[in-house]
Amino acid sequence: MKIVVTGASGLAGYHAARACLARGHEVHALYHANEPLLPGAKLQQVDLSKPDALDAPVLSLFPDVIIHAAAISSPADVDANPELAEKLNVALPRRLAQLAHHLGARLVHLSTDMVFDGHDAPYRSTDLPNPSGLYGQLKLLAEREVLEHGVDEATVMRITILTGDSPSGARSVHEKLFHALVRGERPKFFTDEIRQPLSAMNLGEVLAELCERPNLHGLFHWAGNETISRYDMAAKILKHFGLSEDLIEAATCEGTGRPSDLRFELLPLVAKINTAPLSFDNQLQHMTVPAACRPWYEQATGQKAAPVRLRKGIDF
Ligand SMILES: NC(=O)c1ccc[n+]([C@@H]2O[C@H](COP(=O)([O-])OP(=O)(O)OC[C@H]3O[C@@H](n4cnc5c(N)ncnc54)[C@H](OP(=O)(O)O)[C@@H]3O)[C@@H](O)[C@H]2O)c1
Repeated sequence: MKIVVTGASGLAGYHAARACLARGHEVHALYHANEPLLPGAKLQQVDLSKPDALDAPVLSLFPDVIIHAAAISSPADVDANPELAEKLNVALPRRLAQLAHHLGARLVHLSTDMVFDGHDAPYRSTDLPNPSGLYGQLKLLAEREVLEHGVDEATVMRITILTGDSPSGARSVHEKLFHALVRGERPKFFTDEIRQPLSAMNLGEVLAELCERPNLHGLFHWAGNETISRYDMAAKILKHFGLSEDLIEAATCEGTGRPSDLRFELLPLVAKINTAPLSFDNQLQHMTVPAACRPWYEQATGQKAAPVRLRKGIDF
């Protein structure tokens, strides 16, 4: 199967491309600023801030599936540059859905638990969204555009907070925690912010499986199988790496406007696919110390950190 992956240098797109390659598919991996290490993939650099930037590449490649993982993925970055976020997070997926429908190719588009306000968890895919910030509002708009223009070719996959190693080494929960510790900070984590973390590797497996299951189109929810507070996530990460819980501070998210509980109901998708959701303890096994934080870690613990290399240009 010929699969185009946008955002292949990002946390989700990288692991989706890896999983598709491992299943023997022809992968065309698109990135923007950071070239990922994806042996076997055909890499292409492209700036997707012009929504029609993909017209020519997609029409000439004539893919069977497009996995769309490129986005402005942080709510703070969306607030800082709403115009760019509208282009990348709404206009681009709309255009991809039109292209996919035109070609009869599948489009698998990623969305977020942040389309909900956190008051009525666990959320089913049929529940009414009510995003509280611009990031969630744009992602919701994109979901509607993709399902409208993609018709029977589109799958929207709402996912929860991602864990695991990213090509940048600075994207996921444990990577951000390490960078804060290296800066000498004592980061705060909310004890009442309930999440259902999802391993990016596990997501990659599910996305690859979805490529092979054209009957599974529409809107689905996917996550890990364990709910946990942000504080307990950080505490478990520290324990896993042999670091003290005293390095972080417990706080409450009351009054911050952050959705407090974003648990997902995994049915019906969990019954329809082979890939099983993972516990947080299982996800911990797939986290390594980011390259830039290894000297700090080795000094703090006296332990050697396992090397990981997912992007070109990082020396070890
Ligand atoms: N991470 C999470 O916890 C989470 C949770 C829920 C939903 N999601 C959703 O999942 C999807 C993937 O998120 P992620 O965390 O994997 O994102 P990420 O790690 O921030 O990666 C974003 C990707 O988009 C690419 N990109 C950004 N601007 C671009 C441009 N102008 N042209 C071409 N490519 C560009 C980046 O390329 P370069 O790095 O090469 O510039 C990178 O590959 C998003 O739709 C996000 O909303 C993520």
